[in-house]
Amino acid sequence: MAEIVFDDSTRSWLIRTAATSYALRLTDDDAPSHVYWGPALTADQLADVLNRTEERWDSFNDPNEGLDELAADGGTRYWTPALQVRFADGTRALEWRYLGHDIDGMSLRVHFRDRHYPLRITLGYHVPAGTDVIERWTELAHDGTDGPIEIIRADSATWVAPIRPDYRISHVTGGWAAESQLLREPVPHGETTFGSRRGITSHHANPWVMLDDGEATERHGEVYSAALAWSGSWRITTTRSSTGRLTVTGGFGQDGVVPRLAPGDTLTTPVFAGLYTDGGFGAASRAWHAYTLDHVLPHPGELRPVLYNSWEATGFDVTEAGQRALAEMAAALGVELFVMDDGWFGARSGDHAGLGDWQVNRDKFPGGLEPLVREVHRLGMKFGLWVEPEMVNPDSDLYRAHPDWVLHHPHRTRSELRRQLVLNFARPDVAEWAFGTLDSLVGEHGIDFLKWDMNRPFSEAGWPGAVDPDTLWVEHTRSVYAIMDRLRARHPGLRIEACSGGGGRIDLGVLARTDQVWTSDNTDALDRLVIQHGYGQVYPARAMSAWVTDDPNFVTRRSTPLRFRFHVAMAGVLGIGGDIVKWPEEDLVHAREQIALYKDIRPIVQHGRLHRLVPPATDGLSALQYVAADGGRAVVFVFRQAAHFHTRERPLRLDGLDPAARYRDEDTGKVWHGASLLAHGLFPGLPDGDFASAVIRLTKV
Ligand code: DGJ
Repeated sequence: MAEIVFDDSTRSWLIRTAATSYALRLTDDDAPSHVYWGPALTADQLADVLNRTEERWDSFNDPNEGLDELAADGGTRYWTPALQVRFADGTRALEWRYLGHDIDGMSLRVHFRDRHYPLRITLGYHVPAGTDVIERWTELAHDGTDGPIEIIRADSATWVAPIRPDYRISHVTGGWAAESQLLREPVPHGETTFGSRRGITSHHANPWVMLDDGEATERHGEVYSAALAWSGSWRITTTRSSTGRLTVTGGFGQDGVVPRLAPGDTLTTPVFAGLYTDGGFGAASRAWHAYTLDHVLPHPGELRPVLYNSWEATGFDVTEAGQRALAEMAAALGVELFVMDDGWFGARSGDHAGLGDWQVNRDKFPGGLEPLVREVHRLGMKFGLWVEPEMVNPDSDLYRAHPDWVLHHPHRTRSELRRQLVLNFARPDVAEWAFGTLDSLVGEHGIDFLKWDMNRPFSEAGWPGAVDPDTLWVEHTRSVYAIMDRLRARHPGLRIEACSGGGGRIDLGVLARTDQVWTSDNTDALDRLVIQHGYGQVYPARAMSAWVTDDPNFVTRRSTPLRFRFHVAMAGVLGIGGDIVKWPEEDLVHAREQIALYKDIRPIVQHGRLHRLVPPATDGLSALQYVAADGGRAVVFVFRQAAHFHTRERPLRLDGLDPAARYRDEDTGKVWHGASLLAHGLFPGLPDGDFASAVIRLTKV
């Protein structure tokens, strides 16, 4: 039974989740210290662990080394600091004094203050119902009257892994059009930091890690993972010592950016959630997906519609006639949401101008947006619009009127990337302008969906005249969140897609206020298999936007069959992004069939459980499977990335089925025993050649 209990005699807290336990205690000098994280233990059983928390000690180490619950800088603590402050008189160390705690159902807040200085610190814990996810965060409050306290580092949590003979880390790396490349590598000794200094989550790393002892597989083994719900700059540091200790500390911020807490101010960090699972990486991913669906996404029960997006078809060359033609064709194919991308506003005929001027371009749309929106609705589709609210082109009316609204330092270049600058959303006037602009756009034009893009990172992130410019790094992101929240409250039917030049802003923070994310600007189906594999380690298919685009691919120039492109995109939220008015009739016929097939399997893909059967990098063939939440249906996707002389068709072992049940292949009518599909497998019957693929639907009979 999930519960949180405090034991006064040992000054320890035990957090029991659905299937795991977590414990912390106070040391003799009142510092919060880690005790245990892993398989479920009762309070009685935990007593054995509590008695054994003594670490090796010598005069060169802190007695509690590597066990701090939030490793604070100060005293003899030499571990990677998770909390580092400088008080108004220059003192740079923290001494904990315990004040008390609150337990409210599955939430725990443990309160401390510094022994001398006016800083209150609360460590927060919350276990969402039915999960093993422990959400953790830190609250800081300046409750004095002296000068400000510098916050050098304020992590949300330090996660202490149990001692194991070895450690391996899984994480993703990448770049634009190459996001979410999964790596599994030994954890280096010393400190290793993953992060972003770009003001966005980034394409280059994503704020989650998984740790195992090096032996876990897709289906077996213990995995400790942690994911940060934050869309600005962030850092996660693993620290591994020769004594075998491993910790992961993480939160928002970056080195050298030191916001200050003025008297009366509070700072609450984002959630850095931790999860212990047994059952390999597959079980870890399914647990993160379930958590995201049940506790993060705003409308998880919905089925995401099949979308059309105009970007790859038209680029900036948007016209009303062109959009109408695309919309008509999209509707005929079975598309449910039509999204007009970049190019519809201001002087936007290329990337050099117009950002910031969110009025419809009357040369392109003489009657305004209404006629197109009306037509799209008449065709039975929802209407979506691309915006990039945080950006401005220097060549825009907005910038000419408000050159001071962008991030900038005096006497410094305003570096342009994609010929644009970043608006400072930490400024209340800028945030109000952005909200007002988007609110009117959505309200006046009956817009159902916004694709919220963000196409460059921060630079020269100054705020001349502000009392504390360094706060902008956090406040910009908070302001983006607040505007999204306000828009959703004012327009309950509005749905939002998060995008940052593809997948530069994918994280649990943005997923809490959006409905889907644009996974990558790379729509090459072969590359997408790898990107989707990395994305799905933590984030669910229900939010993974995937388009079928033209051949050869816009980014890679690779040619793949339309069927393969469809099947890859159908493993997420299907969209079409090609120039469909130019598609030959046979492709349109095929597209109609595939979209109809997707609508049939969509509840399984979007709301089911993912089982990765063979990862994309394996010997030319990969496969994945979704099982419906009630277990009644399953869908298997099989992809042959490349045909090899030596690769004969082999049985593919399925997963997540009921061994005692039988399953009927919905297309061939053949009936199989669940036990044989699990133990022996299914011959997928792929056609010959490269880029062959199959979608196999199974129903429990
Ligand atoms: C980057 C996005 O990822 C693309 O899909 C497209 O919306 C362009 N921006 C438009 O400028």
